[in-house]
Amino acid sequence: MSEILRAPKGLDGVAVADTSIAKSDADGTLIYRGYAIKDLFEHSTFEESTYLILYGKLPTRSELEEFEAKMLRFSMVPHNVYDLVKTIPHEAHQMDVLRTAVSGLGATEGGISSEEQKLSIIAQMPALVANCYRIIKGMDVAEPDPALSLSQNFLYMLRGKKPSDFEAWCFERMLILYLEHDLNASAFTVRVVASTLADIYAACTAGLAALKGPLHGGANEAAMQMLLKIGSADNARSYVQETLAKREKVMGFGHRVYKTVDPRSQLAKKLLRELLEKQGKGLETYKLCEAVESAVWEFKKLPANVDFYAAPIFLNLDIPIETNTPIFASSRIVGWVAHYNEQLVDNRIYRPDATYTGEKGLKYVPIDSR
Ligand SMILES: CC(C)(COP(=O)(O)OP(=O)(O)OC[C@H]1O[C@@H](n2cnc3c(N)ncnc32)[C@H](O)[C@@H]1OP(=O)(O)O)[C@@H](O)C(=O)NCCC(=O)NCCS
Repeated sequence: MSEILRAPKGLDGVAVADTSIAKSDADGTLIYRGYAIKDLFEHSTFEESTYLILYGKLPTRSELEEFEAKMLRFSMVPHNVYDLVKTIPHEAHQMDVLRTAVSGLGATEGGISSEEQKLSIIAQMPALVANCYRIIKGMDVAEPDPALSLSQNFLYMLRGKKPSDFEAWCFERMLILYLEHDLNASAFTVRVVASTLADIYAACTAGLAALKGPLHGGANEAAMQMLLKIGSADNARSYVQETLAKREKVMGFGHRVYKTVDPRSQLAKKLLRELLEKQGKGLETYKLCEAVESAVWEFKKLPANVDFYAAPIFLNLDIPIETNTPIFASSRIVGWVAHYNEQLVDNRIYRPDATYTGEKGLKYVPIDSR
């Protein structure tokens, strides 16, 4: 019998696959296909960065135009998926609604090739996220406007009114930050499902299930609730101190890879300030966030992660809090598709071992004799 290796808890420090999609590093850097996140955040569009992640290179102008046209063509969601969503109780969590919708999509999209399925699931996410919310809130389904970009359409469908160019630009920056993050819990989940040769809908449904948790994608919703509870910068230090004393988590802080700085949170922090200044709202929210950030660093030496600054940006773009994690999912699905493809290049089914700690040799006792 070959020797069984014991992996550390949470697979910390264990490489389980090769990837050329993205790399996050402890020194506070993140690259997508070799390009620094800062450059993509400052100069790229969601569609261009999506192309980069899926195909491994920046597109030429004509490649990008063709890609955008394809995404637009695929962006309509079949209405029987919305009919399915209409059967879900109105108090359901938006991530449960979205997970059900994506699973439903998988049951209805049989007529297209598997390559088309991968593009269409990405292209349909804005309409799905917006309409899962709208349907649960009793509103009419909104359709994408072909004259708008993906991020403009997203805000348009979600809020029912067309965004300003600046709002759409801010929102698109956040979508770029969320696109991909190497082997996090949901990407690993997607790769495990891919390794069984299940289809892309099955893999993404599982990815959504993993992303929902508050230790992963659910943190942006939890961080916003926490910020609302703290209320103002004056309360930040005592809130953090009390939370840590109870050994509870301060949401939106800490990371397996980044120990001093999450490059995405620094970019998002700058964006939050820019947004508040442009809106003339004052910097109260920014000061609150900074006060929480400096208290968590003072007491626990943990950096703010991307979810911490994403939350107030979404709130100030008039985005409903319960759609924070679905929005994260609508971008991260690009990374999931890339991981799905990469897994299948040199696939072997994931089947780890476990150390058995239960009893052995017990004698079965008939039910009436127990
Ligand atoms: C992201 C997260 C799950 C990483 O988990 P991890 O890699 O197992 O965490 P670490 O091993 O680095 O944790 C080191 C220590 O900091 C603590 N810690 C980590 N994040 C913390 C947080 N947000 N609040 C309070 N304490 C935290 C851990 O409990 C641990 O404490 P200990 O050494 O006293 O036992 C974790 O930091 C967390 O739960 N953060 C809050 C949720 C969140 O924001 N998630 C989004 C991630 S992008």
